[in-house]
Amino acid sequence: MTFRTLQSAVRNVFVIVVIAAFGTALADAQTPSSVRYDQQNRVFRIDAGGMTYAFGVNERSELQSIYWGGRLAESDPLPAAKSERELASFDSSATTTLQEFGGWGGGMYVEPALKVTFPDGNRDLVLHYVSHTMSKDGFVVTLKDISRDVFVELHYSVDETTGVLGRSAVIVNRTKEPLTIEKAAAASWNLPGGADYNLRYLSGRWAAEDTVNQQEIRPGKTVLESRRGSTGHQNSPWFAVERGHSNDEDTGDVWFGALAWSGSWSITVEQDQARQIRVTGGYNPFDFAYRLAPGEQLSTPVFYGGYSHHGIGGASRLLHRFELTRILPQAPKPRPRPVLYNSWEATEFNVDEAGQIKLAEKAASIGVERFVMDDGWFGQRKDDHAGLGDWYVNPQKFPHGLKPLIDKVHSLGMDFGLWVEPEMVNPNSDLYRKHPDWVLNFPGRPRSEARNQMVLNLARQDVRDYVFHFLDDLLNKNDIAFYKWDYNRNWSEPGWDAVATDQQKEVYVKYVENLYSILRELRARHPKVEIESCSGGGGRVDLGILGLTDEVWPSDNTDPFDRLTIQDGFSYAYTPGVMMAWVTDSPNWGNRRTTSVEYRFLSSMQGSLGVGANLDKWTPEDFAVAKDMIAAYKEVRETVQHGSLYRLISPQHDSEYSATESVSLDKRQAVLFTFLHSSSKGYPFPTVHLRGLDPARQYRLRAIHDAKAAGAPEVASGSYWMAHGINVLLRGDFQAAGFILEDAAGR
Ligand code: DGJ
Repeated sequence: MTFRTLQSAVRNVFVIVVIAAFGTALADAQTPSSVRYDQQNRVFRIDAGGMTYAFGVNERSELQSIYWGGRLAESDPLPAAKSERELASFDSSATTTLQEFGGWGGGMYVEPALKVTFPDGNRDLVLHYVSHTMSKDGFVVTLKDISRDVFVELHYSVDETTGVLGRSAVIVNRTKEPLTIEKAAAASWNLPGGADYNLRYLSGRWAAEDTVNQQEIRPGKTVLESRRGSTGHQNSPWFAVERGHSNDEDTGDVWFGALAWSGSWSITVEQDQARQIRVTGGYNPFDFAYRLAPGEQLSTPVFYGGYSHHGIGGASRLLHRFELTRILPQAPKPRPRPVLYNSWEATEFNVDEAGQIKLAEKAASIGVERFVMDDGWFGQRKDDHAGLGDWYVNPQKFPHGLKPLIDKVHSLGMDFGLWVEPEMVNPNSDLYRKHPDWVLNFPGRPRSEARNQMVLNLARQDVRDYVFHFLDDLLNKNDIAFYKWDYNRNWSEPGWDAVATDQQKEVYVKYVENLYSILRELRARHPKVEIESCSGGGGRVDLGILGLTDEVWPSDNTDPFDRLTIQDGFSYAYTPGVMMAWVTDSPNWGNRRTTSVEYRFLSSMQGSLGVGANLDKWTPEDFAVAKDMIAAYKEVRETVQHGSLYRLISPQHDSEYSATESVSLDKRQAVLFTFLHSSSKGYPFPTVHLRGLDPARQYRLRAIHDAKAAGAPEVASGSYWMAHGINVLLRGDFQAAGFILEDAAGR
């Protein structure tokens, strides 16, 4: 399947409700109105969820933003678009006018959405409205250069419930000569002008993902990006912009967006000289060139955007709902994530049949539902120096193949998962010895290794087929329910010498298209198989990969305290329903911090719970706590994974305290997790005021394991828990408590 068909399949999942294209449209009899085109004023308008979005065709025939923000009344008029004046003789009107999707040309100094070079040296591109089409799948506005047959189709999709829009572009070369695309964004999101805005974005590195950064938007640009060939740990392809700066999570106007792309990407947040804010994102233009022969086209990824009147908390909840109901492969009703066990921190590369069976028996005894064998089972894999690429079962470690282990795991009532790192090769492997030309490289130049491995060039059809076939074969021959798909380095020397020189840079697009096509085909052939995206922790988390995988591994940092901030940051952009979190050993392997089993469980229960400890070393007391915690987790996991998340007390910026609450969609259950870093001068833990409950409903408070609250009634109204709050009793260092609130009437 091509990327184009993948994209249209993604678009097709949306309920796009569109109204006739001619005249000031009236609602279609079968469908509610979310999109309207006012022919007289040439204004496109979308009203969905809590937002309205509008753009129009201005007097020069450019597409120009008109409005994006809180939902307007249907009767509210929106004016025709009119271009802005130039600012003196220095900032042209092409610069001051907020174009919906601007080509670089006509004296434009702000970030363009598209930049091309023609073979005659012309680099001027001015895009004018040509036509639009509306259908049940969406609507498409077609633009064309003022003189050359370069067309751009702008695709819009709408999610009725959340008001999240999907935007992407297809660039079509209908000239008689090839042209080169040097920059292709999916969209420019333009914000209402004249306000002070604050930007939030996520940054990180290996084992320290998802730090929340907040800064005032000042004149100039902030560029969030990856030049690494994949999404990367450095930034997440997500942004949120708030008008002013509310001190409350759940109030304020917030615009947000997330790019669905797992290769090199960029999002530019820009305040121009007229103090207008534009956010432009798509393929990273660095080292980018895509040659379009006559008749060819390039599709960009989808850039999703939304608006919330309920602060950054509301923005996250909209995005979570959108991911769960529109993006994930199992949307709109993803299966709850099973409690899994993973062998990595227990055995690292030293896996074998007897050792894994021993761990599996112990995992099953505490209620684990999925047993995953991590790295080390294949080829000549003794450590990270060899084996990647040789995907046969290591005969010394598993003399009878994987079947005895898998059968045992099944007999213990669990399903079986397996670690793979399909896109990589160790030079010390049969695959590399046979196909040294399969890796990304520039001939005659060094081939840099990282973790003793190189990146296979998945853009090549033969590599793509090899990878697909070994993964398919493993699934055909073994009863495997789950792949943990790892990816442990970034690109270097990204040469692709098997194609013509002017096509080599297409590797940035074609690699990821092939990655997506493998995932899509595997899922089609093995519909029950679930997949986790891992890249040395959270190096490949984005809405593109989430469209094809069921969960992600947010970080190799499994220290439960460090995880609080990583998980908090993750939740700004991604649902806890995909966020795997393991309980591992103490002291932690990374920072030697000692924490209790209870603390570790409560930290991991904020997401999709897993266990990654060496169970051979656990005491009977550890097993008893684990059993209790896993049983409690199973009672609340639907709420944690698919409910509404409220970040009550932020763990960011060295906070002593943190607290999160998840509320089920029917508001009958809520679960509260509280964490104390260390008591200072005997001050009590701050009173925790719950949010999002039904004020009139009576809720019964129940402690998870041995949590305690001072003077808390057994039953009280939602109003009580929100207004009066809970005084959690926590004292000491690295303490945690969890509570469940349930409808007291049991309805
Ligand atoms: C990196 C992953 O993030 C770890 O969980 C583990 O799977 C190792 N790779 C295995 O090599």
